[in-house]
Amino acid sequence: MIATHRPVISATGLFTPPQSISNEELVESFNAYVKRHNAAHADAIAAGELPALERSSVEFIEKASGIKARHVVDKANVLDPEVMCPRIPERANDQLSVMAEMGVAAARQALERAGREAAHVDAVLCAASNMQRAYPAMAIEIQHALGIDGFAFDMNVACSSATFGIQTAADYVRAGNAKSVLVVSPEITSGHLNWRDRDSHFIFGDVATAVLVEDASIAPANHWDILGTKLKTVFSNAIRNNFGFLNRAAPEGVGQPDKLFVQEGRKVFKEVVPMVSAMIIEEAARLGIDPHSLRRLWLHQANAGMNRLIAQRVLGHEANDDESPTVLDTYANTSSAGSIIAFHQHSQDLAPEDTGIICSFGAGYSVGTVIVRKAG
Ligand code: COA
Repeated sequence: MIATHRPVISATGLFTPPQSISNEELVESFNAYVKRHNAAHADAIAAGELPALERSSVEFIEKASGIKARHVVDKANVLDPEVMCPRIPERANDQLSVMAEMGVAAARQALERAGREAAHVDAVLCAASNMQRAYPAMAIEIQHALGIDGFAFDMNVACSSATFGIQTAADYVRAGNAKSVLVVSPEITSGHLNWRDRDSHFIFGDVATAVLVEDASIAPANHWDILGTKLKTVFSNAIRNNFGFLNRAAPEGVGQPDKLFVQEGRKVFKEVVPMVSAMIIEEAARLGIDPHSLRRLWLHQANAGMNRLIAQRVLGHEANDDESPTVLDTYANTSSAGSIIAFHQHSQDLAPEDTGIICSFGAGYSVGTVIVRKAG
């Protein structure tokens, strides 16, 4: 008889940096920068050669996005109007790098919750929007720090990295190439955010998540069955970051705004909401599930308004916090980690047989869905 392998989610883990920035603190720093900038360029502004920078506002941020605060690895430098970015000291090559450190912390929690020894994991995927360096892979460093004998590699599908990682891990399990795979998403988004850009300075926060995908035969009893996964990408420039190893010497090279996160927020909103809603409904239909019966939606955490619309289209009514939980208010957009934080923090209360969907979306464009059912 041919052995069949059935991938499940055994457990998740979360690492949250202890420091947090409120909208009030962020806006105070941003407006101090605006004041200094406009004073320093007063003559050029008066002569019409340079536009004056406009102030940001707490009310706008909360109303437009639902974000109230964000965790960061380096609060002091992000808030310093002279710096406005994290300054993370370089570490020696024989020390664990900061991104791996966050990933390891999240991974250890997932392993502990599953009752799994790291030695029994077969593979590590580091699935995140930004890698700290080109190579060696962050995933291999995490694998080494955890003492895992197997293989590891990095993958980047921006905000959809974690769901793409879950499908990849599930496929390894299905194919019999691995029985236990860690999908780790350390997101130090404060490094790619342009904290001087009024349109987007409030969007992101730092965090790390981990998802342990395993064969049902070895998983703990309280696992989540993966009923199906679906991935989609459609090229778009509406969310873009041109930073890369080829532009270090160009005159318009590193340090320019286009080498950081740039987006056309309205366009993203309009184009992504229908794409995601349709994909969730189609995927549920493919699996024979009535989308209205989905017990919970763990959606990508980019914008509260987007999630409200998506949830309404999928469920057929305005979703409450229980049906579509938000972590945006305290975490902001944590890129690929957002839907996993929502799942991690808001899944323990569900009953056996409850079915829900983890869904990510973002740059690429990319969309990933993972439909899960709590084991009975
Ligand atoms: N403070 C005060 N006002 C601001 C501001 C700020 N920080 N930033 C922009 N504004 C102003 C604009 O100047 C504009 O003013 P105007 O109407 O007088 O021209 C107004 O607020 C509306 O700006 P707009 O950019 O249209 O806001 P929005 O309602 O679309 O919200 C986003 C902006 C980014 C929060 C929203 O578009 C969004 O979340 N989009 C999806 C983003 C997303 O999912 N990205 C994926 C990332 S991975």
